[in-house]
Amino acid sequence: MSDHIRKPATLITGANGEVGHGLIEQLSQDGERNIIAIDLKPVDESIRASCMATIAGDILDKSLLDRLQSEFEIHTVFHLAALLSTRAEFTPELAHQVNVEGTLHLLKLAVEQSRWHGNPVKFLFPSSVAVYGLPDVSYKKKAGRVSEREWTVPVTMYGCNKLYCEHLGRYYATHYRQLAADSERRGGVDFRSIRFPGLISAVTVPSGGTSDYASEMIHAAAQEKPYACFVREDVRMPFMAMPDAIHALLTLASAPAASLTQTVYNITSFNPSAGEIRDIVLREFPHATISFSPDDKRQAIVDTWPEDVDDSAARRDWGFTPGYNLARAFDEYLIPGIRRLYNI
Ligand code: SER
Repeated sequence: MSDHIRKPATLITGANGEVGHGLIEQLSQDGERNIIAIDLKPVDESIRASCMATIAGDILDKSLLDRLQSEFEIHTVFHLAALLSTRAEFTPELAHQVNVEGTLHLLKLAVEQSRWHGNPVKFLFPSSVAVYGLPDVSYKKKAGRVSEREWTVPVTMYGCNKLYCEHLGRYYATHYRQLAADSERRGGVDFRSIRFPGLISAVTVPSGGTSDYASEMIHAAAQEKPYACFVREDVRMPFMAMPDAIHALLTLASAPAASLTQTVYNITSFNPSAGEIRDIVLREFPHATISFSPDDKRQAIVDTWPEDVDDSAARRDWGFTPGYNLARAFDEYLIPGIRRLYNI
């Protein structure tokens, strides 16, 4: 029998991704010892030591879920595994399997865990600005700061998947098996979701997203690689520095349930145009070669995402405030972090 039994644990899927890395490092600094990390590939060496258990496996694999169920007592799930918006367009059916069926498996696991240990399982789910779908650029300009309930008509498979999973989570949290006898009804899933803007990290470059141009531009400049940006210079969408995203996930996870008035919250930090990001990058790396060579199709996706989002509910209900505005994000986080990363 495993010696992991009966230790209340935190499960993190998609551990090797950008958010996974930051989250595991932060949780470990905060003293969380019982982290179970899952990724399709073996969990990265740099975060292994912070985990109680690491598993290379597929969240679609039923036997993996059975193993989790039998070996661990899980009280919190950060379900980060997903195929991002650009990658999902190449294999939409696979994206649906990973993004939706994978989430369903994890929700089911949370129900079973809660029944087993008798406590609610907190289920933290990163959703995305990709759940929005504005019809065209003129609507995007007029819409301004979009609230959670407006324009949720996504055009990407990833956006559809995220939006549906938000509903699935709300269903598991509040309406699960609503026709069953009382004793069988409550799912015990405490579902909480954040719609993230594009995330920019000083330590990892994202892969497969449509907001990746911001990170790619900065990391390319630091490595003295020419970069051709795949969106227009005037394109604007919300972004956030990675530490704020991690902090937000942890703050929402620890918020008292009674203070939460919705299951899904927008958050944002700054929303520069691609040209403004270029200008800041050039100030720091004057020899960088950055051009604009829009890919019409990826551009069209960003054109459906809002220029800005209204995050007043997150601010009101659980005290969200980003620590990094645009200037601080670059001056105090991205530039020093990237200089360290590339030794420059
Ligand atoms: N950053 C994600 C993407 O571009 C959106 O959540 O796919």
